[in-house]
Amino acid sequence: MARRYLVAGNWKMHGLASDLGEVAAIASGAERRPDVDVALCLPATLIERAARALPAFAIGGQDVHAEDKGAHTGDIGAAMLSDAGASLTIVGHSERRADHGESDEGVQAKAAAALASGLDVILCVGESLEVRKSGQAIPEVERQLLASLPEFEGNPSRLSVAYEPIWAIGTGLVPSLEDIAAMHGALRQQLVDRFGAAGGDMRILYGGSVKASNAGEILAIDDVDGALVGGASLKSADFLPIVEAAPQS
Ligand code: PGA
Repeated sequence: MARRYLVAGNWKMHGLASDLGEVAAIASGAERRPDVDVALCLPATLIERAARALPAFAIGGQDVHAEDKGAHTGDIGAAMLSDAGASLTIVGHSERRADHGESDEGVQAKAAAALASGLDVILCVGESLEVRKSGQAIPEVERQLLASLPEFEGNPSRLSVAYEPIWAIGTGLVPSLEDIAAMHGALRQQLVDRFGAAGGDMRILYGGSVKASNAGEILAIDDVDGALVGGASLKSADFLPIVEAAPQS
């Protein structure tokens, strides 16, 4: 099975009703590349309105609780995300791991809950600058991946991994193409060891300061099957060229 590119935007804590026009522009521009899966992970407050306005476009959440319902003030369960019209969610973003103390085990439980309720998952992993400088990035991210991956037997395209070096997020810094290739190759091997052939069909996205000017060379790397884009996903003029940069499949 050939892996389709997935280019997903992560709007983080950005976006008001006045920005729904950008979501619509992205959805419409994405139609120029029917061979690429495109999604936007929006703040929870915009999910339902965006999904209702654009039923054919993939809208996602940025986090999900591991339980479907309960006494968890401020959290959102997977069934609620689906009910609002989301078809996917990010889990384990480094900003959640840092700001909300999320552990690998917690991320694993969130991923499992989301997949079980029918949401596709983008599971984020990535090393700090300290770990990168120590030369331990690959073993550290492999460890993080194995500790965060849920059990999963469904369609492998439903579970994507996003490699996002923490020091590359929002900084304009990007690892060398060789370092991205080495990390993605290592993560591919871990997925195959864990899931067999299905691990070869799961997508591994790169995230961290992806923009129009570097997307083409990053997406051309073996085992880079897409991108998770923060800042450059907020405007269609910045995001659509990244979608267009995906090699033709
Ligand atoms: P960035 O964020 O593209 O703004 O670096 C990426 C992310 O955090 O997913």
